[in-house]
Amino acid sequence: MPQIFHPSFNTISRVSIFGFVFFAGLAGGIGWLLARSPYQTEQGVVKPQPIPFSHEHHVGDIGIDCRFCHHTVEENASAGMPSTEVCLNCHSILFRDSPILAQVHESEKNGDPIEWTRVHDLADYAYFHHGVHVNAGIGCTTCHGEIAEMPLMYQANTLHMQWCLECHRNPEKYVRPKDEVFNPYWEPESIDQLTREELVDAHDLQSRTQCSYCHR
Ligand code: HEC
Ligand code: HEC
Ligand code: HEC
Ligand code: HEC
Ligand code: HEC
Repeated sequence: MPQIFHPSFNTISRVSIFGFVFFAGLAGGIGWLLARSPYQTEQGVVKPQPIPFSHEHHVGDIGIDCRFCHHTVEENASAGMPSTEVCLNCHSILFRDSPILAQVHESEKNGDPIEWTRVHDLADYAYFHHGVHVNAGIGCTTCHGEIAEMPLMYQANTLHMQWCLECHRNPEKYVRPKDEVFNPYWEPESIDQLTREELVDAHDLQSRTQCSYCHR
C-alpha cells in the first residue's frame, strides 16, 4: 500500500501539537501578565487634565496643605476636589492673564466647575472611606506616592484587593503619628518598631480582612 502520508507528517504534527500547547500557554501567560500589568490597573499612567495642575509646584514648592484643596478628606468617604474659588484665592491675581489658566477664569465666568479627569477609581463593589484612614494614622503618601514630586498626577499603587489586604493585615508597618498624616515627606524609617506598636494601640487598630468590611 502506497504511503498516503509522507513520513515527515509525524514530525509536523508533533511540532504543531507542541506548538499549540506552547502558544496556548504563552497566550494565557500574556493574558495573566496584562491583567496584572500597569496597563490594566492604570498604575503610573498620567491622564490628560483640562489644566496641567502640578502638585509638585503647589505642594512641593509652595507647601500648600492637602486639606486646603481636598477639604472633606478628614471626615468623608471622598477626599473632595477643589472648587474654582479655591484656585482664585491666589490666581485672581497671580498669573491672571496666563493662557494656561484661561479655563479657571472661564469657569469663574460661566459657573461650570472644572472637569478634572479621575485618576483613582475603584469598582463600585469595593467600599473605601478617606476619613477612617486619616483618623487611623495612615498618611496620604502611603497610598498615593510621592505627591510633592508629581508635576502631573498618576496612580502610584495597584489598588488591587491584595494591596489593601497587605496593610489591613499588618497596619503596624504603615501607621504614622496622626500629626504626620498630611506630611508629604514623612519617612516610615523615622519611627522604630516599638513606636509603631504603641501607635497601633493608641489608634486602636485591628487586622481587618472580613469580606463585608470592604464589600457591603
Ligand atoms: C492647590 C490645590 C491642591 C492641593 C494643595 C493639593 N491638591 Fe491634590 N488635586 C488638586 C487638583 C486640582 C486635582 C485634580 C487634577 C489632578 O489630578 O492633578 C488633584 C488631584 C489629586 C489626586 C487624584 C484625584 C483622582 O482623580 O484620583 C490625589 C490623590 C491628590 N490630589 C492628593 C493630594 C495630596 C495627598 C495632597 C497633599 C499632600 C494634595 N493633593 C494637595 C488640587 C490640590
Ligand atoms: C496658595 C496659592 C495658590 C493656590 C490656592 C493655587 N495656586 Fe496655582 N500657583 C500658585 C503659584 C505661586 C504658582 C507658581 C508656581 C511655580 O512656578 O513654582 C502657581 C502655578 C500654577 C500654574 C502654572 C503651572 C505650574 O504649575 O507652575 C497652574 C496651571 C496653576 N497654578 C493652577 C492652579 C489651579 C487649577 C488651582 C486650583 C485647584 C491653583 N493653581 C491654586 C499659587 C496657587
Ligand atoms: C489607604 C489608602 C489611602 C489613603 C491613606 C488616602 N487615599 Fe486618597 N484615595 C485612595 C483610594 C483607594 C481612592 C479611590 C477611591 C474610589 O475610587 O472610591 C482615593 C481617591 C482620592 C482622591 C480622588 C477623590 C476621591 O475621594 O475619590 C483624592 C483627591 C485623594 N484620594 C486624596 C487623598 C488625600 C489628600 C489623602 C491624605 C489626607 C488621601 N487621599 C489618603 C486611597 C487612599
Ligand atoms: C496602608 C494601610 C492601608 C491600606 C493600603 C488600605 N487600608 Fe483600609 N484601613 C486601614 C486601617 C489602619 C483602617 C482602620 C482599621 C481599624 O480601625 O481597626 C482601615 C479601615 C478601612 C475601612 C473601614 C471604614 C469604616 O467605615 O469603618 C474600609 C472600608 C477600608 N479600610 C477599605 C480599604 C480599601 C478598599 C483599601 C484598598 C483600596 C484599603 N482600605 C487600603 C489601613 C489601610
Ligand atoms: C480591605 C478591603 C477588602 C477586603 C477585606 C476584601 N476585598 Fe475583595 N476587593 C477589594 C478591592 C479594592 C477590589 C478591587 C476593586 C477594583 O478593582 O476596583 C476587590 C475585588 C474583589 C473581587 C473581584 C476580583 C478581583 O480579585 O479583583 C472579588 C471576587 C472579591 N474582591 C472578593 C472578596 C472576598 C471573597 C473577600 C473576603 C475573603 C474580600 N474580597 C475581601 C477590597 C477588599
